[in-house]
Amino acid sequence: MNHIALPGGADPDLVRFPVDPRDRLRAWDASDEYLLRHLDETEAPLDGSVVVLGDRWGALTASLAAHTAHPPTQITDSYLAHRATELNLSRHGHTADAARLLSTRDLPPQRVDVLLVRVPKSLALLEDQLLRLAPAVHPGTVVIGTGMVTEIHTSTLQLFEAILGPTRTSLARRKARLIFCTPDQAVLAARPANPWPRRYQLPADAPLLAGRTVTNHAGIFSAERLDIGTRFLLEHLPVTQGAAHVLDLGCGNGILGLAAALANPAAELTFVDESFGAVASAEASFQDNTEGRKARFLVGDGASDLAPGSVDVILNNPPFHSYQASTDATAHRMFGGARRALRPGGELWVVGNRHLGYHVQLRRLFGNCRTVAGNPKFVILKAVKRG
Ligand SMILES: C[S@@+](CC[C@H](N)C(=O)[O-])C[C@H]1O[C@@H](n2cnc3c(N)ncnc32)[C@H](O)[C@@H]1O
Repeated sequence: MNHIALPGGADPDLVRFPVDPRDRLRAWDASDEYLLRHLDETEAPLDGSVVVLGDRWGALTASLAAHTAHPPTQITDSYLAHRATELNLSRHGHTADAARLLSTRDLPPQRVDVLLVRVPKSLALLEDQLLRLAPAVHPGTVVIGTGMVTEIHTSTLQLFEAILGPTRTSLARRKARLIFCTPDQAVLAARPANPWPRRYQLPADAPLLAGRTVTNHAGIFSAERLDIGTRFLLEHLPVTQGAAHVLDLGCGNGILGLAAALANPAAELTFVDESFGAVASAEASFQDNTEGRKARFLVGDGASDLAPGSVDVILNNPPFHSYQASTDATAHRMFGGARRALRPGGELWVVGNRHLGYHVQLRRLFGNCRTVAGNPKFVILKAVKRG
């Protein structure tokens, strides 16, 4: 036995980030537990270069840190996952250097002896990351994936097969499954080229952005085409004058901020997202379409890193499905951070599905909220920060 402490049995407990005492959602699930139990029972060798891909809240990294010969490398697209991992390492008595935290955009390690994959929701992200890691994988690499049964599809297994080598799955246990893949030199050598990042041209009738091309790293929101909610906000984008500071909050590929920049050449733009891939996409899209104009690109949790009272207009299409937290909670946190970041008189513009009822939260936080436009599916809401 490797004597790996399983989440839930450990004291103190693992947490998500940001820590919310009212949050009853756990920081691990049966698939994390299944993988750790398997590594424990099979005495898997953890003495080489261990890479953990897609760890949601650091449950795998924090539990393994005491059992690997060298600090494990965690690779994730999520800023929140990195912060949670740091907290969970420290809650388990580890220093910050007990694991190496990399983003999906960082250069991956040159050699991988054990590759543990928490299967991401996005097949594209899995494809991109397996292709980026493939040069470091060798026939002796132990590759084990894990996920809930609902997250592992034939297409998931086909990716492992096409990029690394023969793949099979375990029996389901508490609705989780393991994926066992045996890297094969011939398969590794013949792997397909990485199709990411992808670029697409915006339709000729897209307001402010007709015919422009945007860059999309794997796994980001609306990576294949313009989202209809985003498009609706583009049609009603607020007009800014002079050196207004505009924040594209939860920017994805940065379409909203790019449109605001093109509409007002003097505007100062900041783009924020918790996805490393999204921020990299927004930066590439902006650079390709603005001829050397400067803007700020931040990976972070909502507007929390912006100076209070520093922003004039915030554009926001909040996340509506995410494993990171219940959607309402994320949107609510974003709205609260947006209010702090706005100067008195500053405006938050939100597009959302009609049924999500964001106006209730906005009215509670800002004391006001106006519906600027609506169609059968979406509403655009505006809340003004009062002085
Ligand atoms: C519905 S998408 C909108 C993307 C883009 N603005 C658009 O309209 O195409 C929501 C975005 O919020 C980001 N997001 C989720 N949680 C976040 C957080 N806590 N802080 C910052 N961004 C977050 C997601 O990564 C995603 O890119």
